[in-house]
Amino acid sequence: MTRKRTAILISGRGSNMRSLIEAASAPSYPAEIVLVLSNRPEAEGLGVAKELGIATAAVDHKIHAGRENFEASLQVLLELHRVELICLAGFMRLLTPSFVRLWEGRMINIHPALLPAYRGLHTHERALADGAKIHGCTVHFVVPAMDEGPVIAQAAVAIVDGDTPETLARRVLAEEHILYPAALAAVASGRIKLVGDRVVREDPEQDPHFLPGGS
Ligand code: GRF
Repeated sequence: MTRKRTAILISGRGSNMRSLIEAASAPSYPAEIVLVLSNRPEAEGLGVAKELGIATAAVDHKIHAGRENFEASLQVLLELHRVELICLAGFMRLLTPSFVRLWEGRMINIHPALLPAYRGLHTHERALADGAKIHGCTVHFVVPAMDEGPVIAQAAVAIVDGDTPETLARRVLAEEHILYPAALAAVASGRIKLVGDRVVREDPEQDPHFLPGGS
């Protein structure tokens, strides 16, 4: 089995990044994390990745003239490390349609809500304010529109009385840490792929796209 060379793009603490690196430390896992990139040099996750023995680089968007230049720097590093798949994990920069198209079907993201509900920021606050009873997280292929794109997998979390954005975020994050490694494994092994604008599963019986949350 050849393991897919995978980069993780972060902007912050990198807890999803850690869960992916840990899952990929098993030799049988179909992806190998070869690079962690951050657009913020001070991102906490960069130190974590280094400690875990992963190559890291900061590509500071602030010192680049515009998105195209920033992405050109990202692309140089991705090519240097012969990256085949990209995982966005708390990466807070919008990517241009041309960069997204370059990586079409090879770039995935995790979002802390059950898409298509609650695209964008402050998802937990918004779900609570709406009185939603079910919330969760989604891994999807990245398309040019933010937080859109064909869904690979979702996990649901029940909202309970007394939940605050913090308590809910904690339970959703715990599910993210299970869902993202499972979704990357399915994509890296080719069991789940993007065909046109649809997600195709090799064996729908084996690859659930919905994982009931444990909470
Ligand atoms: C997660 O909630 C993820 O779903 C969202 O950003 C947050 C990143 O957290 N895209 P972390 O940096 O992985 O801890």
